[in-house]
Amino acid sequence: PRTAAVIPAAGRGVRLGPGAPKALRALNGTPMLIHAVRAMAASRAVSLVVVVAPPDGAPEVKTLLADHALPERTDFLVVPGGATRQESVKLGLDALPPGIDIVLVHDAARPLVPVDTVDGVIEAVRDGAPAVVPALPVADTVKEVEPGPPGAPEPVLATPERARLRAVQTPQGFDRATLVRAHEAVVVGEGATDCAGLVERLGEPVVLVAGHEEAFKVTRPLDLVLAEAVLARRRA
Ligand code: C5P
Repeated sequence: PRTAAVIPAAGRGVRLGPGAPKALRALNGTPMLIHAVRAMAASRAVSLVVVVAPPDGAPEVKTLLADHALPERTDFLVVPGGATRQESVKLGLDALPPGIDIVLVHDAARPLVPVDTVDGVIEAVRDGAPAVVPALPVADTVKEVEPGPPGAPEPVLATPERARLRAVQTPQGFDRATLVRAHEAVVVGEGATDCAGLVERLGEPVVLVAGHEEAFKVTRPLDLVLAEAVLARRRA
């Protein structure tokens, strides 16, 4: 089965502070998106990488890919994205050619995921799981609240048992037909923050496999510091 990776990279990255779209910010001199593209292409199973660029940024992203060394055995496509991650993923799926049976969806904001994690996800889909998600146990106790106005104290509603919670990462891997069906079934205003959430709504099984610490999402300024430290350690 042929595998493609869709990388939604159309987010503005407001939580990271002012500046360029998040995916285009540099980590040790190389844009985060290029790290993420290389992380997907590092898997020998991945024959195509589709990058979903900011809506008006596709030409810039094409130039960026052309300007960086990428594996020759992998094809690359750039398409413009949408207003939400979910819309961006859908636009990436629409661009997939026939012959692709397995689709990975990977956040540009997780530039350092190791290839073993990528391969583990693909293998689980090949073994028959329609939806596979890398995940880790959570370190913090998590509380459900009644969200209030910013700054106001928030009443706690519940404390789910920590041992039963997992924090999910990407790449999430899917049987292509299942993921397309999940996106077609979306009801407007009832999105999910990850693709697997849409598959769950179909009633299809979703399984978790081992994630990796280095697959963390670069969201806040401190995450940039951590990402650069991980890169420096890899080079040492
Ligand atoms: O905002 P968040 O960190 O959850 O974004 C996750 C990923 O989704 C990022 O790689 C971001 O670029 C992407 N995204 C997108 N289109 C949007 C919003 C986010 O491709 N409209």
